[in-house]
Amino acid sequence: MAKEKTVYVCTNCGQDSPKWIGKCPSCGAWNTYVEEVVRKETANKRPVSGLETAKSKPLTLNDITGGDEPRIDMCDEELNRVLGGGLVPGSLVLLGGEPGIGKSTLVLQTVLHLSDKKVLYISGEESARQLKLRADRIPHNSSDCLIVCETSLEQIYVHIKNTQPDLVIIDSIQTISTETIDSSPGSLVQVRECSASILKFAKETNTPVILIGHINKEGSIAGPKVLEHIVDTVLQFEGDQHYMYRILRSIKNRFGSTAELGIYEMRQNGLRQVSNPSELLLSQDHDGMSGVAIASAIEGVRPFLIETQALVSSAVYGNPQRSATGFDLRRMNMLLAVLEKRVGFKLAQKDVFLNIAGGLRVNDPAIDLSVISAILSSNMDTEIERDTCMAGEVGLSGEIRPVNRIEQRIGEAEKLGFKRILVPKHNLQGMDTSKLKIELIPVRKVEEAFRALFG
Ligand code: TYD
Ligand code: MG
Repeated sequence: MAKEKTVYVCTNCGQDSPKWIGKCPSCGAWNTYVEEVVRKETANKRPVSGLETAKSKPLTLNDITGGDEPRIDMCDEELNRVLGGGLVPGSLVLLGGEPGIGKSTLVLQTVLHLSDKKVLYISGEESARQLKLRADRIPHNSSDCLIVCETSLEQIYVHIKNTQPDLVIIDSIQTISTETIDSSPGSLVQVRECSASILKFAKETNTPVILIGHINKEGSIAGPKVLEHIVDTVLQFEGDQHYMYRILRSIKNRFGSTAELGIYEMRQNGLRQVSNPSELLLSQDHDGMSGVAIASAIEGVRPFLIETQALVSSAVYGNPQRSATGFDLRRMNMLLAVLEKRVGFKLAQKDVFLNIAGGLRVNDPAIDLSVISAILSSNMDTEIERDTCMAGEVGLSGEIRPVNRIEQRIGEAEKLGFKRILVPKHNLQGMDTSKLKIELIPVRKVEEAFRALFG
């Protein structure tokens, strides 16, 4: 019998160690090491002598042929864009996301529309009946997508050999296991070995494979983090489960830009592509309401207008409450301190609640100005005119700092019919503004923005 060996593996980054350690020396995380059983390899490998004949030959870059790979059109504009123009044959794509966010729905919906491709959908999580029920909710024409419920890697290869598919889907990698390793499915060693084997298969046969992987909030299951090094492309599907918007983000892409972003809306009958996110996010009527400011934000490479809402009220209890949804709370506290110190607003005894409409999480610093404006608007109970929007980062001394891609932000605001936009003064240097129909209001300091908005 083969001798059993145990190693301790970091669930965060995959680093292993012969004994348990509290802090991972590789990623610095605490308490992430778990015990894994691996079978010791008994075969004595011959040492490399250097005299064997080589299987491949080194070439100069000029000798390597093939420029642009033909891409597989996924019949989904958002997905195509995030993939960098379609799926590359022979590539391994990992689609990660929290449970229940809609990963299986997105993939199933996509393959149901790929009528000219033979797709093998391997489900380790749901039964064929469950998949059928899900597919029935999504409108599609007849599709010859093959479904098989299987969790053994060896069996999966048998199915692939028998069916010769053009595209393989594995839902999810955490349920797949190989017989060569003793540890349970979903453990780090299994996940790593299975995906390395699948990568080899994808490269050798030039068949693209899409892996679905779970991210778990506690990180107790072997997370796709370990996989990120192995696969070619990592896509992340995110969003708040209670809202209908979902964002597909590219985190790593060997065949395209990681700045791309896809937006979907979860509906009763599957996911709908959202090609103009601004219109959706701004659809609510908020005429005459204080505490609302519209920001021209950029996520990835797409500009869109979002609504920031604030509520400022007197604190009833001793400690004022501060809460932010979709925005960094520490950043909001910093902005409140700037308002207090530079503009002279007494907010220390006030509760402040901030919300980014639509359940989006925005990391763009250019929404600082709208956060401040929404807070001021609510504090004074004065509305900001509906046709005004803004973009600008706020610095610690109350200065409005320049933001990137200002032309795109202004263009998006103009396209959606806004009449005025507050922009950082420094951004306008050397910019040709003669063709713009929208009025630009350059601001240098928070006070100036305040005067421009509220008189
Ligand atoms: P699912 O794709 O199963 O999530 P994941 O694979 O990431 O775990 O998505 C499940 C959720 O999506 C579930 O809560 C129901 C919802 N849903 C819809 O709202 N409309 C639909 O048409 C479908 C198929 C699912
Ligand atoms: Mg699923």
